[in-house]
Amino acid sequence: MRMYDLIMKKRNGGVLNHKEIQYMVMGFTEGKIPDYQMAAMMMAIYFQGMNEQETLDLTMVMAESGETLDLSGIHGVKCDKHSTGGVGDKVSLILGPMAAAAGIPVAKMSGRGLGHTGGTIDKLESITGFHTSMEQEDFIRQVNEIGIALVGQTAHLAPADKKIYALRDVTATVDNMSLIASSIMSKKLAAGADTIVLDVKCGNGAFMKTPEEAKTLAETMVKIGNGAGRKTIAVISDMNEPLGYAIGNALEVEEAVEVLKGQGEPRLTELCITLGAYMLYGTGLCRKIEEGREKMTEVLKNRSAYQKFLSFVAAQGGDVDEVKDTKRLLHVKYIEEVKAPESGYISCIQAEEVGMASLMLGAGRETKESALDYSAGFRLMKKTGDKISKGETIALLYANAEEKILPAKQRFLEAVSFSEKPVAKEPLIKYVIQE
Ligand code: URA
Repeated sequence: MRMYDLIMKKRNGGVLNHKEIQYMVMGFTEGKIPDYQMAAMMMAIYFQGMNEQETLDLTMVMAESGETLDLSGIHGVKCDKHSTGGVGDKVSLILGPMAAAAGIPVAKMSGRGLGHTGGTIDKLESITGFHTSMEQEDFIRQVNEIGIALVGQTAHLAPADKKIYALRDVTATVDNMSLIASSIMSKKLAAGADTIVLDVKCGNGAFMKTPEEAKTLAETMVKIGNGAGRKTIAVISDMNEPLGYAIGNALEVEEAVEVLKGQGEPRLTELCITLGAYMLYGTGLCRKIEEGREKMTEVLKNRSAYQKFLSFVAAQGGDVDEVKDTKRLLHVKYIEEVKAPESGYISCIQAEEVGMASLMLGAGRETKESALDYSAGFRLMKKTGDKISKGETIALLYANAEEKILPAKQRFLEAVSFSEKPVAKEPLIKYVIQE
């Protein structure tokens, strides 16, 4: 087999078989196929696409290119949740303990963020002492003992995806449905869960800008998951404004605790209840979604999810007192009010732009090496659809570096638009995709 022939085949619209996909993916991962040939192949795929079978084959080969997690030592049906990423998305921090409190074993691998704010791992590390690396044996023991454990994703998981993604990132070949879906699903399959619930974000702060694009991505991932023998369900949710009130690492932990205590922002709480209900349904712990919703509402109301979060933080070395009194999480020199420049109804708070403003404050990483300021970010006081008067506070800005305040505030204000007439909110849940 020659890579040259495979590139030509795909360039001319041909279909690659399993052996050919394995040859190119493993050859590239092992350094036998050079970057320039793989880049040409990615561009050919970008233009010619891949069919369902090719997409599944690509996913499986990437999933099996490194370590795969064996979760068979954990009792019960394991369910993983994955979000395609958005601004203020602290759902994993909330849903993990909710699911564990409802009886689903949560054995989660998460990544760090390279973007507006940190990833789940970074957010948890804003709690003093919290550690996210442990031996597999301890990971499994912790899930069996308290129902939940979370570790950082290792470089050994789906290494082929890591290498291919880095190449796609610099060759303008990221945004192809088959390539995105196989990239995400290869990591999920390697992480070992039996059931996967995907939160596919849609809107100006997400990868997928329109409901149609999000639906196509969701359908592709659901087909891959089910094709690989894992029950997979995708919920498509709105990401036209930041999720909840907080954007920033410690600020998002603080907001997660509010939801777990039953005092959370309504849409964020609703999303967690919905995703949790599908997790219960997917694992067979309930037979109807309504039943799952009731269970998830109950674990918030009776504080068992909050108690689970405290046990989880304690088990991973975190300072539980900071969770009990979240003001202790924030080490910030400046808290500034961001005031409305005009009166009216808020018609839009562009999620991506608010994310960029948070990044400017140090809440996210510009490069892999950047250090995070865990306490930096924004807390929204108003959301889309709310009425506001000129001079009223839209948000609080948290910073440790004085010189960052003004540019970040300006960027934030550019993200907000106003209308004289009342504004309807986007529906939170757009579609649910399952087979
Ligand atoms: N996230 C991933 O993990 N892979 C992609 O290709 C896009 C988003």
